[in-house]
Amino acid sequence: MVKNKKNNMTQKTHIIANWKMQLSNQEATDLAVALSRETKSSVQKQIEIILCPSFTALVQVSAIIGGDSSPDFRRGQNDIRLQLGAQNIFYHDKGAYTGEISPLQLKELKVKYAIIGHSERRQFLNENDHDVNLKIKACLLNSLTPIMCIGETFEERRLGKTAVALIRQLTRGLEDVKLENDQKLIIAYEPVWVIGRGQAVDPEEALQAAQIIKRVLLDFFTPEIIANNITIIYGGSVDAGNVKNFVVPGLLEGVLVGSASLIFEKFSKIIDVLK
Ligand code: 13P
Repeated sequence: MVKNKKNNMTQKTHIIANWKMQLSNQEATDLAVALSRETKSSVQKQIEIILCPSFTALVQVSAIIGGDSSPDFRRGQNDIRLQLGAQNIFYHDKGAYTGEISPLQLKELKVKYAIIGHSERRQFLNENDHDVNLKIKACLLNSLTPIMCIGETFEERRLGKTAVALIRQLTRGLEDVKLENDQKLIIAYEPVWVIGRGQAVDPEEALQAAQIIKRVLLDFFTPEIIANNITIIYGGSVDAGNVKNFVVPGLLEGVLVGSASLIFEKFSKIIDVLK
């Protein structure tokens, strides 16, 4: 059994499927049904698989995987749990905000996680660090775990400004964010330039980024909160061939998968490698 060095709890690995706007509702349903069978197989550790379909498929996928009605991991118990995530939220609970989806509405569907600040939203929908900050706070207020996406562009990396970009996104995105008791935060390091490219970053770069992130987190949270409530994961062209390099206990504890999560055979191979 793999133990987390800091708190001696059983280590949990997060495998997050970001289906983006890639699947029809029927395809999302079929994939969720197939993946729900994966939870029956035996594993060596605790694995949380978080399915993030489009909003339109949340109801069906929630019904298939049971949402948060599936029991939490018992201490020391190795198992696979399927959970539901949204790809975005709005930061008000209710009101005249045409086209937006509130955290309360998501909670009704047993959503437990929300991807916040994905680079595609930053790039195509003008989402900025202030929006990210408001959305993280809205998640936490509503018992949703934010999956905060950060990462440098190709240009920032070329100019040697990866650390600057990560520090800026973290500092602005986490302003006045407090984590209490069992509130969790996942930070997904996704270098923008490798998303959807079929070629992940050198794992060493991802580990360096995780170390930078850990250092910045110390400006916001106590070491205990960082150890117990915050998880850093990697995303960007993850597949079964490279995933092992991106899961390093105590530093990178899961993956955010796009393309390879859309096909059952590819995604279940990733799960097989990590279980
Ligand atoms: P790919 O796995 O297709 O590179 O996508 C990564 C991603 O954006 C996950 O959020």
